[in-house]
Amino acid sequence: MSDEATRRMPHSAEYFGAERDYFWNADYLDLLFGRLGLPQPAAILDVGCGEGHWARLIARRLSPSSSVTGVDREAVHLAAFERGLATTETAGLSVSTLQASAYDIPAPSATFDLVTCQTLLLHLREPAKALGEMKRLVKLGGQILCVEPNNLVGRLPISSLMSVMPVDEVVRLSEFALRYVIGRARRGLGDETIGESLPGLLAEAGLQDIRVWLCDRAAAVFPPYDTAEQAALLDAGRRWRREGLGPFDKAEMRSCVLAGEGSEAFFERAWADYLRLDDRIAEAAANGRWHTAGGTLFYVAAGRRGP
Ligand SMILES: C[S@@+](CC[C@H](N)C(=O)[O-])C[C@H]1O[C@@H](n2cnc3c(N)ncnc32)[C@H](O)[C@@H]1O
Repeated sequence: MSDEATRRMPHSAEYFGAERDYFWNADYLDLLFGRLGLPQPAAILDVGCGEGHWARLIARRLSPSSSVTGVDREAVHLAAFERGLATTETAGLSVSTLQASAYDIPAPSATFDLVTCQTLLLHLREPAKALGEMKRLVKLGGQILCVEPNNLVGRLPISSLMSVMPVDEVVRLSEFALRYVIGRARRGLGDETIGESLPGLLAEAGLQDIRVWLCDRAAAVFPPYDTAEQAALLDAGRRWRREGLGPFDKAEMRSCVLAGEGSEAFFERAWADYLRLDDRIAEAAANGRWHTAGGTLFYVAAGRRGP
């Protein structure tokens, strides 16, 4: 994801493919929302709502007369959010949007029963400031629910291919991932490991009854790759490579690795390894020899606004 000056497309648009429909197991969400024990009807605010992938899942677990408000700075995402929520099978649900920064949301204090975000904080220079704004907006006794990853795990070159790769290459690719993640945060583009900081951030925001869980869905890919989910995951990788987006945005990766104190020479060498690994994955997948459990760590953390 590029910064403000160089971004070619709406924020995160490259991550709104079919693969995003497979983040959750429905029965896990039933369990999670049972644990939260929201009042019904409930007023929900989804910050950094994007096209509404997260809000749609929440909406299905609300009683009629509940309301869902999406906040995002991208108008194009908000339009998709409204279209998507309109088809959610929740009769009587009130849906609205606000185009705003997560740091400054034009809504009255203490308005919502639940203020939530999914994969927003990892993109922010100042996640604590956004959490402060989320806390302002939640009612006394209401809850904040954040879902954020540690993406470093998935960036490490760990799969069925690791054992046949030269060790130097595995080490260089691991260093590449670390320098990228550290450099991205230093550039103010956000911390991809922010899931690890969620409990502390919620505590520092003054929230109470903090609870932390993990999403129980794994993004596994294994032969014969014959499920819709696996096709979506493999397609996403091919699309990003073909279009030079996301993990294959070379300029973006380069500037982050350099900000992570990697040299130009290191970057070029590791980038060649990175493309070679992707080629190896494609070849092994074509022959039914590539597999991974997914390497995802997706944290779920909730806290209550006390008196
Ligand atoms: C990875 S997407 C997540 C979208 C949605 N929560 C989901 O899980 O599908 C991140 C979203 O945050 C929005 N965003 C990024 N920075 C923002 C900011 N400073 N204020 C408001 N929205 C922001 C982006 O436009 C994008 O829609």
